[in-house]
Amino acid sequence: MKEIIAVVGSSNTDLVFQTPKFPQPGETVLGGKFVTFAGGKGANQAVAAARLGGDVYFIARVGDDGFGNEAIKGFLKDTINTEFVFKDKDFPTGVASIVVNEKGQNSIVVAPGANNHLIPENIDTAISAIEKSSIVLVQLEISLETVKYVINKSFSLKKRVILNPAPAQKIEESLYSKIFLITPNETETELLTGVEVTDEISASKAADIFLSKGVENVIITLGEKGAYFKNKTEELIVAAKKVAVIDTTAAGDIFNGAIAVALAEGKKWKEAILFANSASAIGVSRLGAQASVPYKCELE
Ligand code: RIB
Repeated sequence: MKEIIAVVGSSNTDLVFQTPKFPQPGETVLGGKFVTFAGGKGANQAVAAARLGGDVYFIARVGDDGFGNEAIKGFLKDTINTEFVFKDKDFPTGVASIVVNEKGQNSIVVAPGANNHLIPENIDTAISAIEKSSIVLVQLEISLETVKYVINKSFSLKKRVILNPAPAQKIEESLYSKIFLITPNETETELLTGVEVTDEISASKAADIFLSKGVENVIITLGEKGAYFKNKTEELIVAAKKVAVIDTTAAGDIFNGAIAVALAEGKKWKEAILFANSASAIGVSRLGAQASVPYKCELE
């Protein structure tokens, strides 16, 4: 039977501005194209997992508004189970203001709205989704109290927890030993371990810190350099595919959704990371978050 993936996290509407350069404080930059996309780290990861072949439950909270309704429509189109996408009567759907420069780099401000009101009680309501899943994927764009609750519950139910610690925030030390896989980028790694990742040696040093805290497997994503993997018995570095970058938004989310699918399919680490690298390479060659997520057939 196919293993199910539960993604718990944020759903945003992204207001995206393409500009030649990022504005400095006090500066107004006349930009180019403006586009609205479906986004949010949790939602992007759920969409990536579904498009890449996973059976996905998404547990989230949106506003009872147009943005929220559009987001849910999109999830359903991607065959994501939305039974536990809660609608908040008091707070609006999360919104992200994203500026993308000529190099495809981005700068993001998020107004979390309803995302911050996804509470532990909601997780209890959605517990059947977690029970049916073998993998639980969570990020840090919802309240940390809820993240902690998700990790503890999932671990006690013997699920494999993947934590994508983005946006970078410290988590309680007691949670590390309940994490099957942590997937920070370089900045998040530095915040969580104090190690600046500049090469394979420093990546290994940072990974050792996660392993010593009890995490089972570590993938440090290195942007255009690829991804570094380490656990107690294996260590590898998998190069990224070279592509013309249009927009790096959601590259990490696509990587995480893809890794969850690869693990659900029983792929070995190298194969799983190659798959995730290929998916995020397609993602960065397109504009937008969910709009850039590839389908499984595009990788075959
Ligand atoms: O990781 C990219 C996402 O971060 C965007 O879609 C935006 O909504 C922010 O949450």
